[in-house]
Amino acid sequence: MSSERERSPEEILEDVAARVRVCTRCELHRSRTHAVPGEGNPRAEVMFIGEGPGWHEDRQGRPFVGPAGQFLNEMLDKIGLKREDVFITNVVKCRPPGNRDPLPDEIAACAPYLDEQIEAIQPRVIVTLGRHSMARWFPTEKISRIHGQPRRFGEYVVVPMYHPAAALHQPALKSIVEQDMAKLPAILEEARRSQHAPGAEEPKPEQMRLF
Ligand code: URA
Ligand code: SF4
Repeated sequence: MSSERERSPEEILEDVAARVRVCTRCELHRSRTHAVPGEGNPRAEVMFIGEGPGWHEDRQGRPFVGPAGQFLNEMLDKIGLKREDVFITNVVKCRPPGNRDPLPDEIAACAPYLDEQIEAIQPRVIVTLGRHSMARWFPTEKISRIHGQPRRFGEYVVVPMYHPAAALHQPALKSIVEQDMAKLPAILEEARRSQHAPGAEEPKPEQMRLF
């Protein structure tokens, strides 16, 4: 019998956020105004993972609240998802100065927080926005080749997509991102189905009933 009560996703995420806000594990803590742990439904079926906070996010301590966030909100609206339904976070929780790319050691230092968030939320679908979050699951792939294509990793499905900010700067990418996002409801439906399909998950020995 365990003496410690299991923590809820809400409690775990609040605890992660509290540690992120005071974190000094990498150099990015020096230049931040606010760390941006992420926000949304602790029991979301869909999780979005961006790159890192930009200027607006650093000011407000919230993810995707600038122009890229506005575009993301519009796309979510079109597929009937609200921000409150999903969970939105980034690979690094503090803004890289001048919006430079996060460095490998910064991504590595911050990864345990993302691990904990994924573990707590247990999403059915993870949408990676941009190269840096994609690289966690597809380290050698090119986004131009695999965007919009879901792949199952154990309990969840990962769909790489272009970053909404890239789409705002390169008009050719805008309709590609919109088309990939439009596929999300069907991808979620398929993820729900395949998660429960016979053989999709082998029962662990301790879950097997001997009667
Ligand atoms: N771009 C990101 O990758 N993340 C944010 O939170 C905002 C912009
Ligand atoms: Fe800590 Fe992540 Fe911020 Fe670096 S980016 S200081 S690891 S929370």
